[in-house]
Amino acid sequence: MCTDTKVGIIGLGSYLPEKVLTNKDLEKMVNTTDEWIMTRTGIRERRIAGSDEATSDMAVVAAKRALDNAKLKPEDIDLIIVATITPDMFFPSTACLLQYKLGARNVPAFDISVACSGFIYGLAIANQFISSGAYRYALVIGAEKLSSVTDWSDRSTCVLFGDGAGAAVLGPVKEGGILSVYLGADGSKGDLLKLPAGGSKIPASKKSIDSKLHYIKMEGSELFKHAVRIMADAAREATRPLNLKAEDIDVVIPHQANIRILLAVAKRMGLSENKIYMNIEKYGNMSAASSAVALAEAVREGRIKKGNKILLDAFGGGLTWGAIVMEW
Ligand code: ACO
Repeated sequence: MCTDTKVGIIGLGSYLPEKVLTNKDLEKMVNTTDEWIMTRTGIRERRIAGSDEATSDMAVVAAKRALDNAKLKPEDIDLIIVATITPDMFFPSTACLLQYKLGARNVPAFDISVACSGFIYGLAIANQFISSGAYRYALVIGAEKLSSVTDWSDRSTCVLFGDGAGAAVLGPVKEGGILSVYLGADGSKGDLLKLPAGGSKIPASKKSIDSKLHYIKMEGSELFKHAVRIMADAAREATRPLNLKAEDIDVVIPHQANIRILLAVAKRMGLSENKIYMNIEKYGNMSAASSAVALAEAVREGRIKKGNKILLDAFGGGLTWGAIVMEW
């Protein structure tokens, strides 16, 4: 779908917890090596939130930074969306907790559970509300404390994930902004990546805890294949309505799952690797926070310039996927 009104990102912020967990640290925890993790994933280290630091605590810092960047106050915000699969609790939503911590007005606030595609889904929803004229400013946050749902004895998953938060303020813009949005999902492949217990199907019990069902379960190599195809397809579907070719895209901000996935996507799209922004080495996979933090860092580092065509491209558990083309 192509939007014809102008809605853009007018402020960005991010927050990464202080504690760094390196591959060398992981070598002491599970049977792995820095060399294996670097060559298979491109990850060197990741951030781990403190035991007293919940997802909303990280989200609120990123949100304040995004508001400052947009030169807006919490009371200016008309809509709050938090994308997360690691909410503080089932309810109240992390968005409601954040609204209170931020001192925002009693505006609509809700979470979306879309795993790694959550930030893109959140931007797409906010875009609709603003372009329809219902709201003027929206806050979209991707925030995760994946360390709280990681099985630290499972080497096939624990080396991949990290914690963090990224936030964007959306509002009307005179030029550029969101040009096209493409979203999708395939529930038939939900088993490839899931957190089985804690919901209504398998409520918490001694058995569920002993069976380690409250941790992320992943079929990595199967997901890998879908990820490359899905991200390349999503990029094509988002650029097609605009008649854009790969060479017309200046910077790609992809979900940071694995460096090999990103390089394979670039190849499939016929895109030069240096157009793909990567910060996976520093943070690992932060699910919904990954693209939000990557976008904030790419702008801060000057990688994205006014007038650039940006492609946000993500896939995640669900399976879900989404791509957005915007002009900066
Ligand atoms: N250290 C050392 N060896 C390991 C480790 C480790 N940390 N983890 C697995 N291995 C071993 C395996 O046991 C296996 O050994 P075997 O051949 O003796 O059985 C071998 O390495 C190869 O394992 P594979 O799983 O085939 O390795 P692969 O090359 O596929 O890499 C990885 C694994 C990194 C997980 C990759 O499959 C991947 O990145 N998949 C996609 C992950 C992803 O994108 N997740 C979805 C997004 S997350 C979200 O939505 C929240």
